[in-house]
Amino acid sequence: MKTRITDLFGIAHPIIQGGMHFVGLAELASAVSNAGGLGMITGLTQRTPELLAKEIARCQEMTDKPFGVNLTFLPTFANPPYPEYIAAIAEAGVKVVETAGRSPEEHMSGLKAAGIKVIHKCTSVRHALKAEAIGCDAVSVDGFECGGHPGEDDVPNMILLPRAAEELSIPFVASGGMADARSLVAALALGAEGMNMGTRFIATKEAPVHDNVKQAILKATELDTSLIMRPLRNTERVLNNMGVSRIREIEQDKGVALTIDDIHDLVAGVYPKVMVNGDMDAGAWSCGMVAGLIHDIPTVRELIDRIMAEADRLVHQRLASLYAYRRTTLLERA
Ligand SMILES: Cc1cc2nc3c(=O)[nH]c(=O)nc-3n(C[C@H](O)[C@H](O)[C@H](O)COP(=O)(O)O)c2cc1C
Repeated sequence: MKTRITDLFGIAHPIIQGGMHFVGLAELASAVSNAGGLGMITGLTQRTPELLAKEIARCQEMTDKPFGVNLTFLPTFANPPYPEYIAAIAEAGVKVVETAGRSPEEHMSGLKAAGIKVIHKCTSVRHALKAEAIGCDAVSVDGFECGGHPGEDDVPNMILLPRAAEELSIPFVASGGMADARSLVAALALGAEGMNMGTRFIATKEAPVHDNVKQAILKATELDTSLIMRPLRNTERVLNNMGVSRIREIEQDKGVALTIDDIHDLVAGVYPKVMVNGDMDAGAWSCGMVAGLIHDIPTVRELIDRIMAEADRLVHQRLASLYAYRRTTLLERA
């Protein structure tokens, strides 16, 4: 399949793996890129720019296909040295950066000077337009369903994607709730040029996380996520667990007086406990409603090949047959 996204990034299939803390390591990013999608290393999972350079080098040993690095500008508990991270990415010759969180405006000149294509993750049309105005090459439009930070507007992809298509000139991918060929074909119909998946890629053989995490996603339904940190205007969609129940109790108790200190231990430093140790109740970790559509743990290549083959069938058989049926009945009536 050829879209403006496959052209922009030089990839075979319009499928991107979104940056994921403690998941977006070289194993997963290279597997996605080797299967014809665009894999993404998560920059801030590497504690220093030097460690990021090493992780990029590891990924370059595993694939000769393009891959990107995610840089998240969210309120974090530390203050990462972003210019140094960008220098490490540029020096390694990586040509795609997925930015997320705050606007990447102050870093655009550095990224562009290094010939890097920037895809910014946005949860609203106004932020997508801002990204276009500051020179981003593409955007990833994350609907309310998404795992991670859906923003504060609560607009699901059925509305958000066609609204983005109405306003944007640069290409965009649909993100949030994407799992299979149905998601891809629907995203294309709504105006996107491809899709970005997070949660779905965790339940793959190559995802370098504890098996408990994959099993938890398999077991979860579309009803098993919650939104936390809304009073802090830093809303996150996470998988329900005992740590998350505790956060919700604290949030209810404190109301608008909630501060990050009240829940700090249940939201900070949780990812290694969950992703590495498999401690599923340690606290909050991002997970999308799309868990309800995930029923197996294929290899990344099996997943991507299946999506592309089924998308072909969906378009050329199921959808085309609806038109054939209509033509036949009209002819019969005539
Ligand atoms: C476990 C997990 C960790 C994530 N970490 C990040 C991150 O560090 N930076 C970021 O920009 N997005 C992060 N995301 C969001 C994903 O890149 C992607 O936008 C989102 O998962 C899409 O929604 P989906 O899960 O429904 O596919 C994370 C998502 C998950 C599930």
